[in-house]
Amino acid sequence: MENLGTILTVIFLCVGAGVPSYAQQLTSAEKELIELDFFYNGQGMHLSPGILSKFEAIRAVIGGSRLDNSLLKTLMKRWGIQERPGQNFSELVGIKNVTYKNYKVGVLGCVACHSGKAAGQYIVGIGNKNIDPAQIGTDGVRIEEVLKKLSGLRKKDPVEKELTESSLKLMRKLTDPRMRAETQGLVPVSLVGSWFYEMAGAPIPSNGYKGSVKVPSWFGFEKKLEVGQFADAIGKGHPPGWIIGVEITSGTSPRNVREYFSRVEHASSLISRLNPPSYPFFIRSDRAELGKKTFEQTCAKCHGTYEYNADGSPIYKTPKMVPIESIGTDTDRLDYVTSDFLEKVRSNPLSDLIQLSDYAGKRMMVAPRLHAIWARFPYLHNASVPTLRDLLEPASKRPKLFSIRDAGELERFDQTRMGLTGPKTDQELRDLARDLRRKKRWIYDVSKHGQSNQGHEKFVDLPDSDKDNLVEYLKTL
Ligand code: HEC
Ligand code: HEC
Repeated sequence: MENLGTILTVIFLCVGAGVPSYAQQLTSAEKELIELDFFYNGQGMHLSPGILSKFEAIRAVIGGSRLDNSLLKTLMKRWGIQERPGQNFSELVGIKNVTYKNYKVGVLGCVACHSGKAAGQYIVGIGNKNIDPAQIGTDGVRIEEVLKKLSGLRKKDPVEKELTESSLKLMRKLTDPRMRAETQGLVPVSLVGSWFYEMAGAPIPSNGYKGSVKVPSWFGFEKKLEVGQFADAIGKGHPPGWIIGVEITSGTSPRNVREYFSRVEHASSLISRLNPPSYPFFIRSDRAELGKKTFEQTCAKCHGTYEYNADGSPIYKTPKMVPIESIGTDTDRLDYVTSDFLEKVRSNPLSDLIQLSDYAGKRMMVAPRLHAIWARFPYLHNASVPTLRDLLEPASKRPKLFSIRDAGELERFDQTRMGLTGPKTDQELRDLARDLRRKKRWIYDVSKHGQSNQGHEKFVDLPDSDKDNLVEYLKTL
């Protein structure tokens, strides 16, 4: 009996006390950011009332047979909405039902895009590698149409009508060819940009530039603001009006923004408190040490050096700016920023809160600080390079086609090349070709406009051993 008691105590200690639950491991800033949204007065990033529970309509659009949660999960996967391990079950990230005037409204939060998985680990502050606003729009519009048929001519009350209409307006925007990314995981900045044209009463340009980018990492945000926000540092960070770009484009009124602006300021400070997660696998420290030397000789002039506090947290530094000619990466993101666009930004109705930085229109790119770079693949601002090792090769040798399906899962993580696994067997190669033919949105094709993998090539003649050591060092950041 005594033994049994001891055994039970041991089991109790292991289960109850020894292993911290996932929720306990999150920092308070992470927890707050996971919950963060700016749905306010019935406006902001949201779906139509009740849509998340209208399985019948969802099934009509995406197929499938079971009218249960798995259907919703299938839809969420199509949209790129992630699941994270919760205390007892996994939870959808960045989408939730909010009650507004007796209606249940599906609201999208910041972490739908600004958190994601890498090597199976859920991380707040890296971009969601699979988020697909264009798919959300396409499905959203079609689900609405089915719902309309199902409900016949039932009269909607004004609140329901308004919520439905504002959601549809956003969904239509997401499918507009001028604001629709070609591939999952990319978000066109023209989506936010369109708001400035709307406010000026000007037509949205059809010049073919969309500026599709991956969702950037948030680590070191406060220091980044010293140059400016976004891939080209176009946005002034104080006051932090730009960070709710997706909210204003979703139809929140400028008046709403002014009312809740103190919460936006708070969000900006939360973002600045995040720390990068460390590499979850073994690192060869001898090689990393050698790689550090190569990095300091070859890369540090743009990407800086890396230092840490006594507790291991990084000392963040201001990133450097690089003219596009000296880096040579895809220009679509910069081409989007025309002088016409800059003029529209200057005259926007929130111009006291949303301002241009000194770098606006200068055609320079931020050389990103590389904290947690192991988790931030595919690389470059347009996510065109699947692994770090590929980034160190000339563009001609980088993959022209790759799959970002399940990009954040453990089985898609390549520890040697650091980033996405490529096709290993003939079958996998054939699958890739088949998915390309079927125009699957998880196929990244570098021949598409804005998706070129060119540039960042000045360092490609390093010996292979140096490149391998560099990759090992980058795991430590
Ligand atoms: C639809 C996906 C999406 C959602 C939702 C979203 N963002 Fe972003 N965010 C982006 C993209 C894409 C960029 C990069 C744009 C660029 O570089 O041109 C970005 C950039 C940022 C940046 C600047 C980072 C940097 O490196 O300069 C901040 C801060 C930010 N978002 C905050 C937020 C907040 C706060 C919310 C919630 C209100 C939010 N975002 C919601 C996609 C999203
Ligand atoms: C001349 C300045 C410069 C040098 C030198 C340089 N880089 Fe970069 N690097 C940049 C710029 C600018 C970008 C962003 C380009 C883009 O996204 O279009 C970038 C992007 C990257 C990225 C992708 C970041 C992301 O979030 O996807 C990685 C990784 C990287 N560099 C690593 C290196 C390494 C390793 C070296 C040394 C071998 C190096 N860089 C040398 C300027 C430089």
